[in-house]
Amino acid sequence: MAAAEKPPSADAPRVDQQGAPVLHVAIVMDGNGRWAKQRGLPRSLGHRAGVEALKRTVSAAAKLGVNSLTVFGFSTENWSRPAAEVAELMALPKRYFETDLARLHREGVRVRVIGRREGLSSELLKLIDDAHARTENNDTFNLNIAFNYGGQADIADAARRFAEDVAAGRRRPEDLDETLFAGLLATAGAPPPDLIVRPSGEQRLSNFLLWEAAYAELVFQDVLWPDYGEEHLRAALAEFAARDRRYGAIVADDVLAAG
Ligand code: FPP
Repeated sequence: MAAAEKPPSADAPRVDQQGAPVLHVAIVMDGNGRWAKQRGLPRSLGHRAGVEALKRTVSAAAKLGVNSLTVFGFSTENWSRPAAEVAELMALPKRYFETDLARLHREGVRVRVIGRREGLSSELLKLIDDAHARTENNDTFNLNIAFNYGGQADIADAARRFAEDVAAGRRRPEDLDETLFAGLLATAGAPPPDLIVRPSGEQRLSNFLLWEAAYAELVFQDVLWPDYGEEHLRAALAEFAARDRRYGAIVADDVLAAG
């Protein structure tokens, strides 16, 4: 991309209507199993400790100037885990909403759950729908929980919806561009993540926000998710702040040198 070109608008640095920076952090909450194993505990207790880490991290994020947090709670691939572990993971959002939704709502948090609805129990779907309805007008902080979510599944679902619209005559193939396609994804309407964090020492995206990650900075941290808290988020944000985000352009000094 030539230096004079503008960065892609969807991924350009953003400010809100008051001109304050908008910061979206996404986290792969990884390492619950290893945390439990290190303590001789069942994996289920690692996941429960992971919920406590989520609570700490939401509070820390709001305190540290993050506007939106998207966390990976259950992937479309996690169905292949033993049935008892899947059942435990399915119970987590229910428990979390029962214990924390009223407080999150009072604090002005808008809660969204993104991912496929198929496979989730009607009870959980009702809790999700209620959480959306109750908090949809909140604007202090956005908490997005990716649950039964997969980046590839989401892209495939969006492509299928577009193909159906073309087949039904509602759209033409030439209507498709990046903006329209982004609007068909589960994350439609939300800014893409600025920073994706993965604790636990693993260094991969694991099918998280594949489309949305296009210009995200990646930070990998050597801490298991149940131990995560403010100090770790602070460190990730410090690393992010030191990065030079160019969105495919070149840095100002090089523009002068080239000119
Ligand atoms: C990956 O760790 C983590 C998960 C599959 C589940 C993460 C979920 C939570 C932290 C709680 C979510 C809370 C809500 C409210 C949805 P792992 O089990 O793969 O850990 P391992 O790699 O050490 O085995």
